[in-house]
Amino acid sequence: MQTSKLRPVFCLLINKNFTRNITVNNTVVKETEETIPQGKPWREIPSLPSLPIIGQLHHLLPGGFLYNLSSMEFMTKMNKTYGPITRFDPLFGAPPLIILFDAESSAQILRGENWMPERPGFLSLQYYRNSYKKNKSELAGLLTDHGEKWKKFRSMVNPAMLQPKTIKLYSETLDEVAQDMITRLKSLRGEDNTIKSKLDVEINLWSLESIGVVALGDRLNCLDPNLPENSPARKLINVVHDFFTVSEALDFKPSLWRYISTPIFKRAMKVYEDQENLTKYFVDEAIKKLKTKNANADEERGVLEKLLEIDETVAHIMACDMLFAGVDTTGNSVLFMLYLLASNPEKQDKLREEIRSQHETRPYLKACIKESMRLMPVVSGNLRKTTKEYNVLGYNIPKGMFVTFAHEIMSSMETYYPRPKEFIPERWLVGKEDPLYYGNAHPFTTSPFGFGVRGCIGRRIAELKIETFIARLVQNFKVEWFGPPLNIKNSSLNYASGPFNFIFKDV
Ligand code: HEM
Repeated sequence: MQTSKLRPVFCLLINKNFTRNITVNNTVVKETEETIPQGKPWREIPSLPSLPIIGQLHHLLPGGFLYNLSSMEFMTKMNKTYGPITRFDPLFGAPPLIILFDAESSAQILRGENWMPERPGFLSLQYYRNSYKKNKSELAGLLTDHGEKWKKFRSMVNPAMLQPKTIKLYSETLDEVAQDMITRLKSLRGEDNTIKSKLDVEINLWSLESIGVVALGDRLNCLDPNLPENSPARKLINVVHDFFTVSEALDFKPSLWRYISTPIFKRAMKVYEDQENLTKYFVDEAIKKLKTKNANADEERGVLEKLLEIDETVAHIMACDMLFAGVDTTGNSVLFMLYLLASNPEKQDKLREEIRSQHETRPYLKACIKESMRLMPVVSGNLRKTTKEYNVLGYNIPKGMFVTFAHEIMSSMETYYPRPKEFIPERWLVGKEDPLYYGNAHPFTTSPFGFGVRGCIGRRIAELKIETFIARLVQNFKVEWFGPPLNIKNSSLNYASGPFNFIFKDV
């Protein structure tokens, strides 16, 4: 296994005094109290020079070192210039961001924070839920709660969200959605087998329709070409679309909303409120239907039914979070994977062969998903706010610091993976003797669904959605790509951005 060259030194430095086990639902994690060896102060972590008052602002201005860079270009440049650990001081008193490009150090913090991990983000949604809205509930949701509140909510919903036999219940309906989407794509194709309408918007419709089945217990019919403009489903499509626009403007770009009520802030509060009300409408509809259903005590119940058994508020909150977190993530993952398959036709043929063989297990499909998430992840890195002090690579990182783990950069480093920039699903299947064997890479290099007790609660649902849809796509189309590489917009997520130069030929 490849690890940081510094690891032995730091293992020796850390003096473990005391360990205890803690359970978050069924997951036992070890909390270790450590005597932290004194290293250099965090302010000495290599970083851009600062000026009085404006700090590092001038680097972002025209002519500056970081001017006009995408977040990926920014990360790459910082890594090349400063090495495995660096620091960026944002503006206006926001906490500094420590960036790690070293898998072993990332493991040190992610494991150390695996008791009640805090992942900052979605601040405007958090504000809406905790301060703005009128009828606040004690628990706000996994995306925005922290500490004991988060732990309480997560422990309640884990059994409903993570059990494989519950998720398996959706195989058939998700396949129906996938087939409906194939029909829709065929109807959108022009004579040259390309799709002129916005493919990202189309794929998000598939994604919303699929997650709706789980979160809201029924088909929304988003794929219906005659969906009425004022129908609740159409309104939900619009709100899900708007959510990312407003949250990006408020949470990921400099904005004054914390001080004054800007127009985009007002719009965001309305979008969050509409999303909540529409979700409530669909959950109430599902409750009505469930009441008329002949309950069979032996029948495995679905996610929404299990959540409703906890209580209606929990089901409603969890449905809101599923709609927030489960649409763009899965939609863009499919677009990235489709692009990689179109750019690697021999891998696509191999995958088609496996799908056609109708075997119960599909190891190559799973390997293609892992490989595309390594190479083109939709979440470029994970984030934690430290709840204790660390010594990382010789620097003291105090409690309360924001640390980000640059997985997308790490997973394309030769230090970790041979031929890192190539799409080689086989690396996830070959044995230990093969140099490509994935197990030779440090396990914290790639981490598409995050880590530990705070890791993605929708992972199994996402994987089933993607497997089902990609299988149908490859079964129906030979997908090709022409022209320059796919554009990627780095934002809160990595978004596939047009032009979508796919050719969908019938097979
Ligand atoms: C390919 C698709 C997806 C990817 C790559 C993805 C990735 C992630 C990542 C990286 C995190 C942060 C984990 C951490 O901090 O350790 C996360 C959290 C979360 N995801 Fe996903 N996700 C996906 C799909 C979904 C879906 C379909 C749902 C809903 C069913 C969902 C619901 C959530 C929720 C609620 C959280 C917050 C969990 C918590 O804080 O306890 N995600 N996801």
